[in-house]
Amino acid sequence: MSDNTEEQITQNVLSSMANAPNARLKAVMESFITHLHAFLREVEPTQDEWMQGIQFLTRTGWMCDDKRQEFILLSDITGATMLVDAINHRLPGGATESTIFGPYYREGAPELPLGASISQDGRGEPAVISGRVLSTDGTPIPNALLDVWETDENGLYEQQDPEQPDMNLRGKFRTGSDGRYLFVGIKPVSYPIPDDGPVGQLLRSLGRHPYRPAHIHLLVSAQGYHSVTTHLFVQGDPYLDSDAVFGTKDSLVVDFARNNSSEEATHYGVSAPFYTVEYDFVLEPER
Ligand code: BEZ
Ligand code: FE
Repeated sequence: MSDNTEEQITQNVLSSMANAPNARLKAVMESFITHLHAFLREVEPTQDEWMQGIQFLTRTGWMCDDKRQEFILLSDITGATMLVDAINHRLPGGATESTIFGPYYREGAPELPLGASISQDGRGEPAVISGRVLSTDGTPIPNALLDVWETDENGLYEQQDPEQPDMNLRGKFRTGSDGRYLFVGIKPVSYPIPDDGPVGQLLRSLGRHPYRPAHIHLLVSAQGYHSVTTHLFVQGDPYLDSDAVFGTKDSLVVDFARNNSSEEATHYGVSAPFYTVEYDFVLEPER
């Protein structure tokens, strides 16, 4: 029988998994136990503190259902979601950087003609977003798909807000034969992630705020290319340096240029003032 002393217990737990049939699971759990025990040796929690940790995770689980996933939120605010994303998207330089997917994507957004607006309620400041989808060698990609979603001017996605029409501020657009796209959205606003649960309590206890800098979500895909889940962030947003979920990347911050011309607004079917953004998305070919 093993003697489970403070000195020997880590090795005993590792040895207990020696015959695990799944080599990957064995490697993952060996690493997990090694790091968990090292963490406990470093922090030396009291039994009360350990219980508080267990209760925090229990409350996090209670807050999960088909609409709310508090564990993913916990992964988001600890930077784990973005680190896993980075590890899995080590594409060669030049391809558009990825960022967090978030909980508010919906399948089945309407496919709209180039130039159309995704705003069904006319709220917010119009933004004309255009550019190209390119391969890493610079070739334009025709028929690439941009699936976009953003909050309304009140910072809520349509499924969070009974006042908004179904599928408001969501749409799919396909690039033309020249690889170009153009759609009308609204200038995004910064908004808080859900903070009425244990993750919100943790943020407050850590002296952190729950805000994300203003952004539009895009899922850009094309046949024969790696798709990219990304955002466009608004240059100058006060939360760019403190995104609650660490989703910002310098290359995704863009200038929303204000335009006061009524004539130019009419050309895009919007009213002045409006904003324009030019951004090329670059996809890596599949090998
Ligand atoms: C979002 O940007 O939609 C989001 C990402 C992570 C957590 C909550 C919201
Ligand atoms: Fe978002």
